[in-house]
Amino acid sequence: MLNFDFHNPTHIAFGKGRVAELAKLVPAAAKVLILVGGASAEKTGTLAEVRAALGERQHATFSGIEPNPSFETSMKAVDQVRSGGFDFLLAVGGGSVIDAVKFIAAAVHFEGDAWAILEKRGRNITQAVPFGAVLTLPATGSEMNNGSVITHRGKGAKLAFSSVHTYPLFSVLDPTKTYTLPPQQLANGVVDAFVHTVEQYLTYPVNAPVQDRFAEGILQTLIEIGPRLLTAPEPVYDDRANLMWAATMALNGLIGAGVPQDWATHMIGHELTALHNIDHARTLAIVLPALLNERRLPKREKLLQYGERVWGITTGTDDERITAAIERTRAFFESMGIATRLSGYGLGAEAIDTVVAQLEAHGMVQLGEQREVTPAVSRRILEAAL
Ligand code: NZQ
Ligand code: ZN
Repeated sequence: MLNFDFHNPTHIAFGKGRVAELAKLVPAAAKVLILVGGASAEKTGTLAEVRAALGERQHATFSGIEPNPSFETSMKAVDQVRSGGFDFLLAVGGGSVIDAVKFIAAAVHFEGDAWAILEKRGRNITQAVPFGAVLTLPATGSEMNNGSVITHRGKGAKLAFSSVHTYPLFSVLDPTKTYTLPPQQLANGVVDAFVHTVEQYLTYPVNAPVQDRFAEGILQTLIEIGPRLLTAPEPVYDDRANLMWAATMALNGLIGAGVPQDWATHMIGHELTALHNIDHARTLAIVLPALLNERRLPKREKLLQYGERVWGITTGTDDERITAAIERTRAFFESMGIATRLSGYGLGAEAIDTVVAQLEAHGMVQLGEQREVTPAVSRRILEAAL
């Protein structure tokens, strides 16, 4: 096992009816800016519940954080925090709203052009406004990690940062808040959580059986509940609860502690979203099967373990088993209604040059756990994903 630090300070309040506990979770004297995305938090009644729970505290609302949150919109919120003297931020929404709030919390105290936070990947953050979250879409794990991904629309760049200062103080995870999600967002959540797990598991063995079996447990849970989430005539509480906790556990630092991590699928995927506005999870479904095939040699041992333990593949030559494991992965994404090829999103070979150029422009030239995914390898992966 590799050396590691593990410290996750986020308090999770999980379960039905927990939103009311914001009354205790938010500091009593706080002046709160609630931040939401489009119309969903208002329509579902969650925003009204949040406001009621804040009671006598002074509060206002910033709305309009878009999916794949932009630097431009976030900076408007920074202005409101500064001019209104807000000292606590409350994200109500999915990964986009929580990510934006992390950036806003750090940018409020940042001197100079805050895009530098993304350029330095968060290393230049020295403090942040405290914040909490009410999660309405299980997918990203942002509710219990310190990472955030922000898009500069003007520059066409989607970059990530992280910092010890950008963990949520708390996150409220009420599975009933997912009942209003459209099927495509549920499917996105399953696939995003699945790929987060794979990024930290499907690398090379370092004799870390606890992390491996946690990861395999998350993958098996997602495979089991994913199709049921889409076909159930009415939302089933336990399935929603298990999706929510699986997605949080997939990216809260636990399964990634002490093991090599890949993340090349995510980095290539971010460029596809920035250039073609494809949902985050869908970009991962395009890239991952092609990447696993391209990297089948360096990932050989873990691919065989994945095939056997997650998909029950025990017969055939090693190569046949690996091919079968990759095909089962692709079929799982497709069964969730998610296309796994660029052509499924109207993109052809002509799109590849720009994606590779953007990877180079953003310094994404040595990706993956072995740092061997160069622009030439990324190109082969994208060609195989046509
Ligand atoms: O904007 P509103 O009206 O709220 O609608 C949202 C949005 O249109 C809707 N929605 C959310 N909760 C709902 C709901 N609709 C009905 N009922 C509800 N309960 O869903 C749409 C998508 O929301 P969004 O927050 O964009 O989705 P997601 O949670 O998948 O977040 C995606 C973003 O997270 C980043 C992605 O890159 C992307 O920008 N990621 C963040 C990570 C992190 N911080 O650790 C890791 C991930 O790999 C990922 O990169
Ligand atoms: Zn992701």
